[in-house]
Amino acid sequence: MFAESKRVEEMNYFELLAWLGIGSSHPGGFPATQQNLDAMGVKPEEYVLDAGCGSGLTACHLAKTRGCKIIGVDINPQMVEKACLRAEKEGVSHLVEFRLADVYNLPFANNCFDLVIAESITVFLDKVKVYREFYRVLKPEGRVADLEMVLLAELPANLRRQMEVCFGSGTNPLPFEEWLNALTQAGFQDEIIKNPQRMKKNGRLILNELKKDWVLVKGLSEKAASLPGLIIRLQKNANFMKMNRGYFGFGLVCGRKPPLPPPPKRVGFKSWVLRVLRRKKRRENP
Ligand SMILES: C[S@@+](CC[C@H](N)C(=O)[O-])C[C@H]1O[C@@H](n2cnc3c(N)ncnc32)[C@H](O)[C@@H]1O
Repeated sequence: MFAESKRVEEMNYFELLAWLGIGSSHPGGFPATQQNLDAMGVKPEEYVLDAGCGSGLTACHLAKTRGCKIIGVDINPQMVEKACLRAEKEGVSHLVEFRLADVYNLPFANNCFDLVIAESITVFLDKVKVYREFYRVLKPEGRVADLEMVLLAELPANLRRQMEVCFGSGTNPLPFEEWLNALTQAGFQDEIIKNPQRMKKNGRLILNELKKDWVLVKGLSEKAASLPGLIIRLQKNANFMKMNRGYFGFGLVCGRKPPLPPPPKRVGFKSWVLRVLRRKKRRENP
């Protein structure tokens, strides 16, 4: 029993999420995703990438409600497995595909997606590096919409340490304007935060996630019973956010890849001759 509970403590945050199969492990949960769908402006004919898709709840929901084609990628094989199962059971396998991949090095050609969405992944990673990769795979004028945690006030060093213990050492929420700067540095334009909000109490949120997400609920009581450390670990993370939620908010970090520059004007033969003659004249009569 001790070894089992120790295993939970040794899991990093992502492994814990994957093992549980949590579908909406981002600030604001599934209600925030639903609120953001209009802001994302997804059209049925669009090709969407969900970067760090977790167990595929958002990707499957998008396919079901908007009818678009979508690829979800995640670095955790357990997440990808659960996401594939979800797509199959929810009857959207013809629209959604899930692949094991690293967002720092996406296995896609340049300029292929209309929209890249992400939910609570960039906060743990090198923001500019990830956004550059999103930029690469987006078509000109393609959009990025990234739901991320935001820092509303400077976090004291002891709280930053606690946050890193709960969510991992790379966890680094930024103030709103720094999120926008990261997009600018990666080459995006029209940067804007949509649906900015403060972190709310999340007691009901967790209950709602449980009610709604069959992938999460599947085998949950057995998991909790077999791994007593699980509840303590979840409680610790939840308590950290509850006690310190004044420091945090979240919002949809949005930007657009610039359009292609207009092609150079083709010069007709007549204008070319005139140009050459004018240049010659200038040289002779400077
Ligand atoms: C907090 S979870 C969010 C999952 C999902 N987007 C959601 O909202 O429920 C972060 C996810 O990012 C994935 N992840 C972390 N680093 C990654 C990377 N370098 N490439 C791809 N996925 C990554 C983790 O495996 C995890 O599933």
